[in-house]
Amino acid sequence: MKLLTQAQIIERLNTNPIFSLIGDTADTLGVECYLVGGYVRDLFLERPTNDIDVVVVGSGIDMASAVTERLGRRQAHLSLFRNFGTAQVKWHGQELEFVGARRESYSHDSRKPIVEDGTLEDDQNRRDFTINAMAVCLNKARFGELVDPFDGLLDLKDGIIATPLDPDITFSDDPLRMMRCVRFATQLRFQIEEETFAALERNRERIRIISAERIIDELNKIMLSPRPSIGFVELQRCGLLEIILPELSALDNVETRNGRSHKNNFYHSLEVLDNIASQEGSSLWLRWAALLHDIGKTKSKRWDPVAGWTFHNHNFLGEKMIVPLFRRLKLPLDERMKYVKKLVGLHMRPIVIADDEVTDSAVRRLLFEAGDDIDDLMRLCEADITSRNEVKKRNFLQNFRLVRQKLKEIEEKDRIRNFQPPVDGEEIMQRFALPPCREVGELKTALKDAILDGIVPNEHDAALQFIRERAAEMGLREV
Ligand code: CTP
Repeated sequence: MKLLTQAQIIERLNTNPIFSLIGDTADTLGVECYLVGGYVRDLFLERPTNDIDVVVVGSGIDMASAVTERLGRRQAHLSLFRNFGTAQVKWHGQELEFVGARRESYSHDSRKPIVEDGTLEDDQNRRDFTINAMAVCLNKARFGELVDPFDGLLDLKDGIIATPLDPDITFSDDPLRMMRCVRFATQLRFQIEEETFAALERNRERIRIISAERIIDELNKIMLSPRPSIGFVELQRCGLLEIILPELSALDNVETRNGRSHKNNFYHSLEVLDNIASQEGSSLWLRWAALLHDIGKTKSKRWDPVAGWTFHNHNFLGEKMIVPLFRRLKLPLDERMKYVKKLVGLHMRPIVIADDEVTDSAVRRLLFEAGDDIDDLMRLCEADITSRNEVKKRNFLQNFRLVRQKLKEIEEKDRIRNFQPPVDGEEIMQRFALPPCREVGELKTALKDAILDGIVPNEHDAALQFIRERAAEMGLREV
């Protein structure tokens, strides 16, 4: 963050000729015009962005049309949204959004505001956070002058998210802002100001009028931050998580019986998520798998007088929860969902192998089931070791290295990843003159198991020999 002087702001603005062109156009039309919102915030944060929001005290549409004329209709592309009084100009990969300064008021049960023309001050009043409510004048006479009625710059310096007006009004007007509040706090590692946070708690129920698509958009931005746990802790603390992701929120408890407690699986899940997020290039979907890997623990929790707390089969229960959860959250239901489901279902396997003896056949089976996702699965499992007991942690990681080593050897030797048995159903049906039937399935499964168990090499002739023997035992005759 840099506290830029007006001279420095001007210097920055002058690196892009568009700003003085917009200012000149506004002067010609005789209207005031300002750069606002995220662009101004990111100017001080020194984060480059291509989204430029401009407020005109007058008509945004007239202004956008005039700017397009100047840029040349061949170079610039204009889209008008008359219903909203906004216009967009695309020019050399930049998106310029023009809007007339406005005053907004909202009715209780809708996000659709009643909009009237207003002053710059009205426009700044209706914005979500002080750090997003700063404006920089583009007219020639005041080029680069910062208009910051809510001390957004101070909040940017101090790392604070606060609303410009009464937070109850700001959040109630547009409840999506509650998600944005937590998202900005996470991305920027800012504190949510006390009154603003209290309003999150009071207004959380209003989130229900926001569509799942918009909520997930913000949630994904939290997920993709360097330390997503910050956002989930805040969402839990204010009660929003219980509404949008109750399955995760429910993991936030510790039960004690006979002096024995289990770990808090909510904080554990967040630690795993942060571990994954801190790794180079970890995808959004690996992050989702990390967040949800223990989601089945609430339903699988049992008390056993000898073993203590157990969570048997939590991976299978968790796997089953992924489809309904993705559907409800409006997350994709394609390969990406299947990937998360697979990782949640398989996340205990490397641990079981590492805990026991690392046999070839166990590793071969894991490789077969995980396919190309084996590396991500191993990354998830390593991230899952959050024990504070250093000896325990070292042992697990050491065993995982062994599993990885074995995976590599077997992969090179047997080519099991994504393997299709070398004798397929078609060939079996032809050789034994069978229609599709139970016997064909049985032969296929027996062959797959024999290869995975290392009894038969992953080669056609050896596999055919095995099939012939099995078929003979079943009384099938080759034609
Ligand atoms: N805004 C708002 N309330 C919203 C959304 C946006 O008040 N629910 C205002 C804020 O002033 C914001 C500006 O509109 O800065 C632009 O919004 P948007 O482009 O969605 O977000 P940015 O702040 O630019 O941030 P990001 O690009 O990271 O989403």
